[in-house]
Amino acid sequence: MRVAMIGTGYVGLVSGACFADFGHVVTCIDKDASKIARLEAGEMPIYEPGLDDLVETNVRDGRLFFTVDGAEAIRNADAVFIAVGTPTRRGGGHADLSYVHAAAEEIAGLIEGFTVIVTKSTVPVGTGDEVEAIIRKANPDADFAVVSNPEFLREGAAIGDFKRPDRVVIGIDDVDGATGTRAKAVMSELYRPLNLNESPLLFTARRTSELIKYAANAFLAMKITFINEMADLCEAVGADVQQVARGIGLDNRIGSKFLHAGPGYGGSCFPKDTLALVQMAREAGAPVRLVETTVEVNDARKRSMVERVRKAVGGDLKGKTIGVLGLTFKPNTDDMRDSPALDLVPALTAAGATVQAFDPEGMHEAGKLLSELTFCEGPYEALAGAHAAVIVTEWDQFRALDLDRIKLTMAKPVMVDLRNVYRPDEMRARGFRYSSIGRS
Ligand code: UDX
Repeated sequence: MRVAMIGTGYVGLVSGACFADFGHVVTCIDKDASKIARLEAGEMPIYEPGLDDLVETNVRDGRLFFTVDGAEAIRNADAVFIAVGTPTRRGGGHADLSYVHAAAEEIAGLIEGFTVIVTKSTVPVGTGDEVEAIIRKANPDADFAVVSNPEFLREGAAIGDFKRPDRVVIGIDDVDGATGTRAKAVMSELYRPLNLNESPLLFTARRTSELIKYAANAFLAMKITFINEMADLCEAVGADVQQVARGIGLDNRIGSKFLHAGPGYGGSCFPKDTLALVQMAREAGAPVRLVETTVEVNDARKRSMVERVRKAVGGDLKGKTIGVLGLTFKPNTDDMRDSPALDLVPALTAAGATVQAFDPEGMHEAGKLLSELTFCEGPYEALAGAHAAVIVTEWDQFRALDLDRIKLTMAKPVMVDLRNVYRPDEMRARGFRYSSIGRS
């Protein structure tokens, strides 16, 4: 199959490279000429494990192309994916659809032969209808179907998620009609390699598919927020949140994943998609109050992390040096979007502390968003002279730090572990004043 992928952001690039690896011929299109030039030179604009190799192999084998001018690729495509950004619009939680609409306009004039237009970007319910209307209006004779195919890729594990998904959701209206049948055949062929893994393709109506994406992310955000509140309760009543998580997670109806208590969720999806869902639901007259509360509780949680550090250093941050380990919203990514560090670091400096930080991949991005901190070469440098170590992101390399070495170089052996990487009894035995999440 011939695929045109509009947008080489996270989703577009990973999906494009994976479709090429499935054996399809994929052209990734982006307006950003410097990005395309870098991609052609084999330089990845994001850090994602395995992506550089996947791109290199498929470019070499002649299945993956990058271009600023997508006209020819779109004309020849069996499927055109819209994988452009849908940022939160200023002044409210609405998703900004201007890039999606612009992509639809562009595609409209180029359709030749039956073409499936697929929205991969996370878009509010009804966007497929809008895309269809835009194309129909601009090109009334075009032979096309608009399909929703949301992504469920986790950063840092995106290639595995693409190739071994729990499910692939595909929204096609009137799937048994003439156009729907052809669209279903194209989508089935695109994902055919997954049949080997018995990964289920779930065909639904288009609006349902659009909502599934929001519902999945909101549910996961709610699950994390639930365990975070349980963690606070554990601290208040003397219980252990990791055991609570295990105790409830072993119930198959609940499931053990996404029950790690921490400093609050961040990233490119949960914060944006929960907000967009809240707005969409309000406008539809069916407010989702659990999700509204989730957003509020999570925002407050991220802001409150500074208090844990303040308490750990004895109540006053003024003049203290804080060593921050990890800045990205989770490990194995360089993504800083809505990271808890974006609340914590400015709050620490505003309270008069000096921040020394290290992150294995995120310091370049962090440098654009955070000022008034010193970036260090490694974890030991970040903790030298510090009155407290704060683990914000659970990178593997922070899991086995040389604690004796740290203790010697820190001003005080104090650790605030916001990811429960270490064990309280061990840390105490090593002579640390240690606090963590939900474990008294
Ligand atoms: C998420 C979804 O998992 C993915 O399906 C969707 O399409 C995009 O959004 P991602 O944002 O890459 O993926 O990361 P994820 O691993 O889901 O983590 C999101 C946030 O939740 C991180 O800040 C993480 O630290 C936090 N989290 C996750 C927890 O605090 N506890 C958990 O148990 C799990």
